[in-house]
Amino acid sequence: YETLQIRASLLEWYDKNQRDLPWRKISSGFGFKEDEDEREKRAYAVWVSEVMLQQTRVSTVIDYFNRWMNKWPSIHHLAQASLEEVNEMWAGLGYYRRVRFLLEGAKELVQEGGRFPETVSDLRKIKGIGEYTAGAIASIAFKKAVPVVDGNVVRVISRLKAISANPKDAVTIKSFWKLAGQLVDPCRPGNFNQALMELGSTLCSLSNPVCAACPISAQCHALSLSRQNESVHVTDY
Ligand code: ADE
Repeated sequence: YETLQIRASLLEWYDKNQRDLPWRKISSGFGFKEDEDEREKRAYAVWVSEVMLQQTRVSTVIDYFNRWMNKWPSIHHLAQASLEEVNEMWAGLGYYRRVRFLLEGAKELVQEGGRFPETVSDLRKIKGIGEYTAGAIASIAFKKAVPVVDGNVVRVISRLKAISANPKDAVTIKSFWKLAGQLVDPCRPGNFNQALMELGSTLCSLSNPVCAACPISAQCHALSLSRQNESVHVTDY
């Protein structure tokens, strides 16, 4: 019952408060009879945006994302690009290994028919796509009920469940993926995952979380124990 409450409240909050981000316009299609192009474009937009978001704040990513999509609107366009071109486009985002993987992954996908796979295990076979990116593409672009766990989600869940284990520990991180998998809304997994990330990057912040405005404060075990500012919850992972 608690899980159902969390899903409903979090999604209601997200529907009212989600930020207007360019990749969300593309990825929220799901028309009645969507064509192949839309499907591919959606997955591609999620892939590019999530790789950018792994290292950079949302406000910075917006411009990079728009410029990228203007230059390479599909994986087919991207697959034609050179490493120099993508590096140049990436300048300022850092971690250039990621953009190289994005290019190599696009080439690989185009070579194998140019169609995104839908499951986490198949997505993970693509160069540079790990558990996080695979979960984001599968849930946001393909509506699969799979979890996505980043540093923000770790903090939200650790507060929600009042978990005192060190979130830097590999075993603990594994348990967060499991908890997030149990929590994810099967009807709107992509929105649910983005809502968790968004809650973590806004209200459920490292220091001074805004519990009074939080849609799931009634279900938050850390808050009910007044432990929301305990050291494990205010340490970035
Ligand atoms: N952080 C990383 N990806 C995100 C997303 N899709 N929505 C909100 N915050 C994010």
